[in-house]
Amino acid sequence: MMDWSDRHCRYFHRLMTRQALLYTEMVTAPALVRGGAVHLLDFNPEEHPVAVQLGGSDPQELAQATKLCVARGYDEVNLNVGCPSDRVQSGTFGAVLMRDAPLVAECMRSMKDVAQDTEVTVKCRIGVDDQSADEVLPAFIETVAAAGVTRFTIHARKAWLQGLSPKENRDIPPLDYPLVHRMKAAFPALHLSINGGITTLEDARAHLDVMDGVMIGRAAYHDPAGVLLGADQAIFGATDPSRTAHEVVEAMYPYIEAQLTKGVRLHSITRHMLGTFTGRPGARKWRRILSEGASKDGAGVALVAEALSHVPDHVPVS
Ligand SMILES: Cc1cc2nc3c(=O)[nH]c(=O)nc-3n(C[C@H](O)[C@H](O)[C@H](O)COP(=O)(O)O)c2cc1C
Repeated sequence: MMDWSDRHCRYFHRLMTRQALLYTEMVTAPALVRGGAVHLLDFNPEEHPVAVQLGGSDPQELAQATKLCVARGYDEVNLNVGCPSDRVQSGTFGAVLMRDAPLVAECMRSMKDVAQDTEVTVKCRIGVDDQSADEVLPAFIETVAAAGVTRFTIHARKAWLQGLSPKENRDIPPLDYPLVHRMKAAFPALHLSINGGITTLEDARAHLDVMDGVMIGRAAYHDPAGVLLGADQAIFGATDPSRTAHEVVEAMYPYIEAQLTKGVRLHSITRHMLGTFTGRPGARKWRRILSEGASKDGAGVALVAEALSHVPDHVPVS
């Protein structure tokens, strides 16, 4: 997720779940290949399993970008066919590619050719604008699967390419879960994940009765403890107890120290941690202390420890 799932965020989330697959922000193939911005691919080895998401629509350029990603050791290379922003549309990638399944197939074939054992996958919408999603989505999947793609994540709503902001495009077009569920029946051999509006592990589990995977975006970011802390147990069958949110914050200290010595500002890390105690006593104070203090010169682990001291360790079950 652009501006959200950067490497600091992923490091933090990985302390909450060992197994959930984490995704980078979208990195555009032109930025990597023409712009040489390969630093955008940096990640911490602790983040595995981690998928990198590419934006692009030029098969050769995507192949070159994929090579760079594979060399870095990403576990999956995903193509964005869902982003509706103007900037992305003018580069002819993102959701507008729902209109050109053969081009997506060509891109994926070319990525797959260089990906060696690394999985290449697609994240798409159910359609765009006035397309009939019932017709377009299965046709899209069929065409792209013919290029050898076996894993898709489907954001269960259309993107409206005119008149809605990217934010509105994540809320206003209605969700159609039944359509996405029908894709699993239509393509039983493919690994299909559902995305969009799923906010709890309980809801995720219900989708997993039908689907192979569930992607959670905003809820995982805003309430990481609520969504990610129990994921290994609830979804992946882990039997050991999960960490507490307090333990996760404390486990961030060595990472924060190391990043500060590299010149990273505390705020760049703690901005992803503001939601750690969402809905719990002390959450507001935690958030306030970090929001007000983390951008100041010299702010470090002591500030995080101070904020943490205002959150009760053991919250009584209500
Ligand atoms: C701040 C923000 C940035 C996003 N950036 C991306 C992105 O880079 N690539 C992508 O495929 N989706 C992106 N999305 C969309 C999410 O991945 C997801 O499809 C959408 O939010 C719906 O899922 P949710 O209801 O679980 O959040 C972004 C969403 C948000 C809120």
